[in-house]
Amino acid sequence: MIDLEPDRAGRATLTRAVTDAIERFLDRLPDAPASTGEPPAAVLDRVAAAPRETPGSLDELLSVFSEAASYAVETAGGGYLAYFPAGGLLTSALAESLAATVNRYTGVTDLAPALAAMEHGVLRWLGELFGLPATAGGVLTTGASLATLGALHAARHHRLGGHDARATIYVTEHTHHCVAKAAAIAGFAPDRVRTVPTDERWRLDVAAAERVVAADAAAGLRPFLLVATAGTTSTGTVDQLTAAADLAARAGLWLHVDGAYGAAFQLTERGAALLRGIDRADSITLDPHKSLFLPYGTGALLVRDQAVLHAAHTAHGDYLRDLAGTEVPHPSDLGPELTREFRGLRLWLPLHLHGIAAFRAALDEKLDLTANLYTALAADPGVEVLAEPELSVLLFRSPAGDAATDELLRRINATREVFLSSTRIDGRLAIRLCVLSHRTHRRHVDQALRAIRAAAGILSG
Ligand SMILES: Cc1ncc(COP(=O)(O)O)c(C=O)c1O
Repeated sequence: MIDLEPDRAGRATLTRAVTDAIERFLDRLPDAPASTGEPPAAVLDRVAAAPRETPGSLDELLSVFSEAASYAVETAGGGYLAYFPAGGLLTSALAESLAATVNRYTGVTDLAPALAAMEHGVLRWLGELFGLPATAGGVLTTGASLATLGALHAARHHRLGGHDARATIYVTEHTHHCVAKAAAIAGFAPDRVRTVPTDERWRLDVAAAERVVAADAAAGLRPFLLVATAGTTSTGTVDQLTAAADLAARAGLWLHVDGAYGAAFQLTERGAALLRGIDRADSITLDPHKSLFLPYGTGALLVRDQAVLHAAHTAHGDYLRDLAGTEVPHPSDLGPELTREFRGLRLWLPLHLHGIAAFRAALDEKLDLTANLYTALAADPGVEVLAEPELSVLLFRSPAGDAATDELLRRINATREVFLSSTRIDGRLAIRLCVLSHRTHRRHVDQALRAIRAAAGILSG
C-alpha cells in the first residue's frame, strides 16, 4: 500500500515502478506497430471501472494503463506521419514530472518569482528568435487553440476597445479551424470570419484579400484582424508574410501569424527564408508540442507588445490583494487561466540541456527527409504528388480518383509500419504525410516509401 504521503521506501517503490514502466515502453517503441486494432471490451471495462474504497496494487494499475495505452495509433513512434507528429521528448516529460512534484504556483509571479522568470525567459528567447522587439512577450498555453483565443481577444481589445458586431476577421480556406472556433467563443457571428481566396500554391492571395477588406470597409464593416499561416495544416505551405504584413499596415489590421506547425522552422536557414516577414507580426502562435517535439500540452502565444496582451487579460480580485508582483508579469494577466501547471521547465530543460543546435539539426533532418521522399515519389507513376513540399508536409493521391486514394491510404496504414492521414485539397482527396517527430529517421521514411509503392502498385494493377 502506498500512503498519500509515502515515506522514503514507498517513494522508492513508486518511482522505480513508474521508471520501469517508462523504460519498458521506450524499449519496445522502435518495434511497436504504428497502429493497432480496437481495444477489447475487457480492456475498456477495466479502465472505466470505478475506484474502490480499498487500495489497489501499483503494479496492476500501471499494467492497466500500459495495456490501455497500447491500443492506439503509436503517436510517440517514428512511423507516425499523420496530422502533426512530435514524438514527445523524454527530457521534457521528465521535466514535467519534476515540475509537478515541486508544484510551484506560477499563475502569479510572487509565489515563485525565479520560476516565473524562467518561463518568461523562454518566451523572450522565442520573441528574439522571430525578431520581435524588446516590448514583446507572451504566455505558454496548452496549445495553439488557446493561444489563438488569447491573440484574438488582445487584438479586439487593442484595436476595437471591445466587441463590435461589425468587426471582421480575414482567413483563408486553409486557416486552421481554431481561428473560427476562437471567434465563435469570443462572440463573433460566423459571417464575420471572412474567407479570402488563395493563390495556386494554396497561400493567402494578398491582392484578393485587400479587395475584400476594402469592400467590407466600404460596406460599413470594421476589418481588424488578418490571419496568415506559417505552415498550414493541410498543405504545410507558408503564406507570404511580408506581403501580408504590408497589407496589414496599409489597412490598419492586426497581423496574427499562426505558426503552430511551421514557426519553429525559423531555427533552420531554409525555414527562416520562408518565414521572412514574421518579425512584423502583432502576434504569433507556435506549438512546441509539434515542431519542438514536446509532449502534448504546450503551446505559445507571442505578442509584439506585451502591454497589449496584459491590458486585455488583466483582472482583479480582493483575494489577490497580497500580491505585489515582480518585474515579470503574472502569467494569469496574459491569458485566460489563473491556476495552471508550471509550463516553463518542460521547455527550458530540453532547450538548455540539448542546446539549440540539436533542435535545428533535427528540423533540418525533417526537411531533408521530406525533400528526398518527394523526389522518390514524384518519379513514381503509381501516385500523383501534388506539389514540392515547402516544409515537411507531402501531399499525394492516386491518379485514379478519390475512392482509389482512400483505398491507397487504407492499404498503407494496414501495413502498421507507418500511419498517415488524409485531407481535401481543391475538392479532391489527398494523402498527407508529415515528417516531424524527433524519432522519425531515414528508416521510417523508407518504410513509408515501400508501403506507398506497394499499395500503389497493387492498385494500378
Ligand atoms: C496550423 C495550426 N494552427 C493551430 C492548431 C491548433 O493547435 P492545438 O491543437 O495545439 O490547439 C493546429 C493544430 O494542428 C494547426 O495545425
